Amino acid sequence: MPDILVTDDGPVRTVRMNRPKKKNALTLAMYAAMAEAIEECGGRPDIHCLLLAGSEGAFCAGNDLNDFLQASKGGGLAPQALRFLHALARNETPLVAAVSGPAVGVGTTVLLHCDHVVAADNAVLSTPFVALGLTPEAASTLIAPRLMGHARAFSLLVMGKPLTAAAAREAGIVNTVVAPGELDAAARAAAQKIAGLPPAGVRAARVLMRGASEEIVARIDEEAAEFKKRLASKEAQAAFAAFLDRKK
Ligand code: COA
Repeated sequence: MPDILVTDDGPVRTVRMNRPKKKNALTLAMYAAMAEAIEECGGRPDIHCLLLAGSEGAFCAGNDLNDFLQASKGGGLAPQALRFLHALARNETPLVAAVSGPAVGVGTTVLLHCDHVVAADNAVLSTPFVALGLTPEAASTLIAPRLMGHARAFSLLVMGKPLTAAAAREAGIVNTVVAPGELDAAARAAAQKIAGLPPAGVRAARVLMRGASEEIVARIDEEAAEFKKRLASKEAQAAFAAFLDRKK
């Protein structure tokens, strides 16, 4: 089965990360497949809502650290990852997420691009970028402080303090917290509800609320330039190797 499953059910497109054995850590091919699924919605007026989901018990463990280790030896964020982040920034289709278990790194920052987030009560959001020798990405340095205020954004993005589902709701990232067994149905119901609204009005309101996508794209690129420098740092290389060797 592919690592990204894209299914259209009437006006709702579900993009499901499906690499459960690796907690949905994102490979380059997964970034590319997700970018394509989102970009395609630009030319599909029949799709009124996107739903991003993971596996039972794991939303996404972030970028695959093997790929980061490779990139740290030369190169920055992979073009596939940047394409995905740009697709998120330019996307005009409402985006719902269903989150359970760990949501690490980009698994959390992607949620800042969502319009409605349903979390299971076992969800834990974390962005250990700085502890890994890196810096935050996905325009999180722009969106998170606006959303939750500088102090709470600093705690999450720089200090790497995880957020439980309830704390993420408190911070304004998550809308509703449900039991794990209810997650898929609750997220699907939210997506269908959004999809049932007049689509042109939803898109126009969303664009107005999110502001200029080029501002977000520009921040993604600024962050990527910094990220590239950090990837090459000794502390980043040591952190990746320590994670990948931890069971040996
Ligand atoms: N990159 C590559 N492999 C990863 C991964 C990642 N980001 N996250 C998890 N995996 C792999 C593990 O190496 C393990 O593989 P193995 O079974 O072959 O040993 C498998 O996925 C399961 O992970 P494990 O750590 O055993 O599960 P867990 O439930 O104890 O912990 C996490 C889950 C997500 C909390 C933990 O795996 C983790 O912290 N991952 C790294 C997250 C990260 O730092 N991402 C980058 C952010 S910038």
